Amino acid sequence: MAAEGDRIFVGKIVVGTDPNEELTKNDWAIVVDSHGIIKASGSSEHILSRFDGEIVKLGPYSILMPGFIDAHLHAPQFGNIGTHQDLPLLDWLTNYTFPIESKFSDKNFSEKMNAAVVRSTLSRGTTTACYFGTIYKDDAVALATQCAEQGQRAYVGKVNMDINPLATYYLEKSAESVVDTAWAAREIRGLGNSLVEPIITPRFAPSCSVSLMQSLGKMAKEQDMAIQTHISENEGEIQLMKERFPNDGYLDVYEKNGLVSDRCLLAHSIYLTESEKKKMAEKGASIVHCPDSNFALMSGVLDHQSATEANINVALGTDVAGGASASMVDAMRYAELASKINTINQKQTTSYLNFKKPFIYGTLNGAKALKIDDKTGSLEVGKEFDAVIADVSASLEPVFLDNDSPDELLERFVHCSDPRSITNVFVRGKQVFSS
Ligand code: GUN
Ligand code: ZN
Repeated sequence: MAAEGDRIFVGKIVVGTDPNEELTKNDWAIVVDSHGIIKASGSSEHILSRFDGEIVKLGPYSILMPGFIDAHLHAPQFGNIGTHQDLPLLDWLTNYTFPIESKFSDKNFSEKMNAAVVRSTLSRGTTTACYFGTIYKDDAVALATQCAEQGQRAYVGKVNMDINPLATYYLEKSAESVVDTAWAAREIRGLGNSLVEPIITPRFAPSCSVSLMQSLGKMAKEQDMAIQTHISENEGEIQLMKERFPNDGYLDVYEKNGLVSDRCLLAHSIYLTESEKKKMAEKGASIVHCPDSNFALMSGVLDHQSATEANINVALGTDVAGGASASMVDAMRYAELASKINTINQKQTTSYLNFKKPFIYGTLNGAKALKIDDKTGSLEVGKEFDAVIADVSASLEPVFLDNDSPDELLERFVHCSDPRSITNVFVRGKQVFSS
């Protein structure tokens, strides 16, 4: 069968989706049609005897894998990446984070920085990103424009905060916050790029009035929008939330205001109570685990094993610049480490994670959180080709790799590669990065 514009990728390919089974197949082939849809997958022998197309043969140390889904990061914080990691959350926000975010009221600065953010994440293999912007509506549109121009699948949120107990210069008026959010959503949809969508983004309960949260919950429902926010990250932050809402749990505050849906991404979720976990599972909301940030800001160590045991979907985020790396591969590595720390501290009853679960967190579970797992998150037939090719020998001496099974090569990629390994990145079939 030959069709104009088909490509056939041949080599080691991550087609598995069950972390308890083999993820990477040797001598595999997948056919991608001219619309960027995966139309066949099978052993190379089977596929090559039935399909024609341009053959893309992977090198001996290369792996084709699903693109990464960074389910939580802050675009305006990239200027702080790798610096200012010496304070816990609330002091960190006050001293480092609000000052840099407030600079994005300057349009030129916003455009320049957002272009660099999207280049950085795409080059690290992030094919889908859930971005927090700033409180400035034009900044959200500038970020979405960059995602559209550079070809990234993205959810872009104008941040809402009409209360700021930490910095009086960085907040909005309630009514303006709602109007600006609706305007930014219209403008983002108006870009006419189906890969880029607006997302409702109240910063966290301590920075939002009840009426603002209610309006945002209503907008999310009426316009069928995903929602992202922070929850239960740090003890000081939980205290701040309790001062404002002494009679409610953290999740209750969001739920009462219509902000907990099955497309709600709740970053951190370290200190959830058992009843909150139960409620989250019932609602189908997801946790976004951000281990790099949790270590850097000394927030805590999420027991993600117990979260998955409670039937909560766990996705993964870099949380730049709480996290000091824009690489989802680093996030996977840190997620494994978090699990091992819990095991050392005997805070986790089941066995620690190997590299496979964090890999699924950073791919398929991100897609599940956004309810786009019919389109992306794995390289299954019928899905859009959001993919990464990584040459593991670009960051490790090839001679070390010679006897690797396909999954061992993937394990080395997760454990000790660096961004030099990422050679090609595709979103919906279109190459959006090559090294
Ligand atoms: N909670 C409220 N805002 C933030 C933020 O910018 N980063 C992190 N890690 N937590 C937050
Ligand atoms: Zn965050």
